[in-house]
Amino acid sequence: MRPLATLLLSLAALFSGHINNGRADQPDLPKPVQEQDFRQYTPQMVKLGQLLFYDRVLSGTYRVSCATCHHPDRASSNGFRTDQGVDQKGDDLAINGLSLYEALKPSAKHAPALFNLGASEFTVMFGDGRVAQHQDGSFLSPAGSQLPEGLQDVLAVQALFPAVTGDELVGTVDNDVKAVAHLGNGAIWQALTERVQYLPDYWPPFKAAYPQLNSLDQITITHIANAISAFVGTEWRSDDAPFDAWLRGNKQALSPSQTNGLELFYGKAGCSRCHGGSFQTDHGFHPVATPLWRFDVDLFGGPEAFEIHQDRAELTGKDADKYNRRTPSLRNVEWTAPYGHAGSFKTLAGFLKAHLDPTAGLREFVLKRSSGKPLPTAVQMVVDQLIARNKLPSVKLSKQEISELLAFLKSLSQPDSLQGRLGRPEIVPSSLALD
Ligand code: HEC
Ligand code: HEC
Repeated sequence: MRPLATLLLSLAALFSGHINNGRADQPDLPKPVQEQDFRQYTPQMVKLGQLLFYDRVLSGTYRVSCATCHHPDRASSNGFRTDQGVDQKGDDLAINGLSLYEALKPSAKHAPALFNLGASEFTVMFGDGRVAQHQDGSFLSPAGSQLPEGLQDVLAVQALFPAVTGDELVGTVDNDVKAVAHLGNGAIWQALTERVQYLPDYWPPFKAAYPQLNSLDQITITHIANAISAFVGTEWRSDDAPFDAWLRGNKQALSPSQTNGLELFYGKAGCSRCHGGSFQTDHGFHPVATPLWRFDVDLFGGPEAFEIHQDRAELTGKDADKYNRRTPSLRNVEWTAPYGHAGSFKTLAGFLKAHLDPTAGLREFVLKRSSGKPLPTAVQMVVDQLIARNKLPSVKLSKQEISELLAFLKSLSQPDSLQGRLGRPEIVPSSLALD
């Protein structure tokens, strides 16, 4: 196209809508993401981290790797359900004879996606923030003063905890890790480190990542955690979605309905009050009335019906933090069903409908699952408290506006980032099955 024609076209675009360069009338719009927003890791560290992330040797049972729950085919989450029904992937070798779905169901855990966690603004991990890096560089973690020295960032600290958390990883069948579990986290980390030390195929990648090492027996849990952090911090980067292209100046990158959705998101729908910033999260905790139960949980069932997920008040000791939920990033949200911290909604549209009118949405969720029967007192109490504490205002939008908002959320999708940069390795040094 000739320069004059281009100029006229962009002038026309400028005057046709009220979004111009995105700054003046949309003050909340983030700046485009830049390379320096991310921590830097060496490729050798990332490669080693990839092997460890996929290696089931790091679980007591030899049945679970990080990738079991953060899978490249499920956008770094565990998904649980696809449009075709329950996702059976990885079930063949699941835990204690149960399918992955059944095994993880009691703890009702929906694993969050791991996009962009290498950006240095991500300093708070988990739904309750129990792992975090303070301003002065020190770490908060469940290990307190027992945390190993030399961990390079908050992702390295986080990487220590799956291995010591719950029956899924430590295992309920006898194994070397379970045998020492009663001695504490340090003993579990030591047992896992020894497993890695016994695998000669780990020597080349460890030596490449840490040239100062002389032999496998010098490896510590810190080397392992730092390498996993390098992988997690690099693998699921997603900063090149249509929304990013739009922010960088390509106004054709969004469809007209997505542009309208963007205006709502950063304007009258008020989403950016919490979902602000480059990754659509303020990293804050908010009293938002979303269900604490998975979409398939029986509210009249066993203890799992009462499972309260990661209550921030337990961490801070402040009653005001009870049921506060962390604002999740919305990158690739189209692909990370089910939705809500607990995975309460199967579809994004369903979640959004409830999120736009949170107390009515929660009541409807409960009503559907109880078929109108009176709830067990404990469940009813939680519902009442969630409603009483909710601070997310209800927003009235037309059907068309809701579909525009959904269209905008899809502009945060970057399909080529879903599987990760390195993807699955061909084989891991333990030769155990890959997820
Ligand atoms: C049994 C399933 C499971 C396994 C295995 C697992 N995770 Fe997770 N992961 C989860 C769940 C569930 C959460 C959310 C927990 C919470 O918020 O309290 C989580 C949270 C995280 C987070 C924090 C994300 C955020 O936004 O706060 C990171 C990072 C992470 N996992 C990485 C790993 C790594 C690395 C491994 C292997 C060492 C691993 N996970 C193994 C289920 C799993
Ligand atoms: C008061 C803060 C706040 C506002 C305002 C807000 N959200 Fe949220 N949002 C949250 C929190 C907190 C969660 C996590 C809920 C949970 O843990 O179940 C969430 C969850 C979500 C999710 C689910 C993400 C996932 O991976 O499960 C989507 C989508 C979402 N919000 C979109 C929006 C949109 C669109 C708007 C504007 C209409 C909006 N939010 C307004 C705080 C907010």
